[in-house]
Amino acid sequence: MLAGKRVLLIISGGIAAYKSLELIRRLKERGVRVRCILTPGGAEFVTPLSVAALSGEKVYRDLFSLTDEAEMGHIQLSRDADLLVVAPASADILARMAGGLANDLATTALLATNRPVLVAPAMNVRMWTHPATQRNLKQLKADGILVVGPDEGDMACGEYGPGRMAEPAAIIAAIERHFAAGAGADRPLRKLRALVTSGPTHEAIDPVRYIANRSSGKQGHALAAALASLGAETVLISGPTALADPEGVKTVHIESAEEMLAAAEAELPVDIAVCAAAVSDWRPAKPAGQKIKKAGGAAPSLALAENPDILARLSRPGKRRPKLVVGFAAETENLLAHARAKLASKQCDWIVANDVGPKTGTFGGDHNKVSLVSAAGVEDWPALTKAEVAARLAQRIAAQLTETPKAATKQKPKGKAR
Ligand code: C5P
Repeated sequence: MLAGKRVLLIISGGIAAYKSLELIRRLKERGVRVRCILTPGGAEFVTPLSVAALSGEKVYRDLFSLTDEAEMGHIQLSRDADLLVVAPASADILARMAGGLANDLATTALLATNRPVLVAPAMNVRMWTHPATQRNLKQLKADGILVVGPDEGDMACGEYGPGRMAEPAAIIAAIERHFAAGAGADRPLRKLRALVTSGPTHEAIDPVRYIANRSSGKQGHALAAALASLGAETVLISGPTALADPEGVKTVHIESAEEMLAAAEAELPVDIAVCAAAVSDWRPAKPAGQKIKKAGGAAPSLALAENPDILARLSRPGKRRPKLVVGFAAETENLLAHARAKLASKQCDWIVANDVGPKTGTFGGDHNKVSLVSAAGVEDWPALTKAEVAARLAQRIAAQLTETPKAATKQKPKGKAR
């Protein structure tokens, strides 16, 4: 979707500037032409050489450079792009933008441009929450500036809170949403609602201990982002993960399977449900109200109760059943046999089967090799990144829901049918 687009990236001063190098790489991977302005503050954190090497372009730094003006004037630089992105956007540059200052190349380009501008703020938590910054932000939003982030978390300065620059993937998602919004045809799911479950569940043993699993939530979160980028109004119900909430997605945080089911049912009706969460099959039947003490003698035994099966509940026939329900089968052996059995027992429409044996690196990793199992057969997909699996599945979902029923019955599975 981004191939052929031109982005002018302004890197201002902040430790998050290192993430902008990754952003350049990811944009380039998507076929975007990236030109960069590096402010003097930005150049304290990343070198012009790194920026030039990654972007494959000259780096612009000086407002009064005769050479730059001869090659490309600063006005042309500000308009020879489809989008201007300021990442990281320091408190200082936001203030200067809000005030309409043009006292260096970056702010001059920002004032002279006739193109949309996206900012990714990054600063210390107190600077972010300061009334002056919040006032500037309000002004910038009123001026039509797009904003992504910041995230909440540990900061390089040792404090905790909002102020971390959005991750490169979230900035890319915001850029994609911006371009997609201008191209309705790229948003085939725009009239539909999607629900995605993701991550592990935590089942309390007592107030400090719980049963969990190794799911990172990466695949489910990527799916929610992919469905949203195709225009679906998306709700992500997430167990505890280390991931940032995907941009443009309503994220509901829960801990246990029972909470996940309640949160999912509260979002019905939806058109699409994708259950990517690794829900714990059991929970301690009677979680202790206080921490269980090691009071000598035998170790305590844990009586377990079965958890509700969210996928099976959502797949139950009835008025509120989503049009398409997709489950995942994470298996360490007999992958396809287990996947087919799950398709039948849970009554969902598709199962995405993936091998999560210890040698595959799927749990926690960035890659996945899956097979799509449906009544029509089995499609084996090549090894892809989790983001690519998500994009491909979202496209398949869009094709399924936007095709006429007649065409849908004729559709043959691509790849190897078994
Ligand atoms: O754990 P299992 O292999 O049965 O999971 C298969 C599918 O069922 C996954 O999509 C998972 O999200 C879903 N599931 C669920 N609720 C459960 C157990 C599994 O939604 N309690």
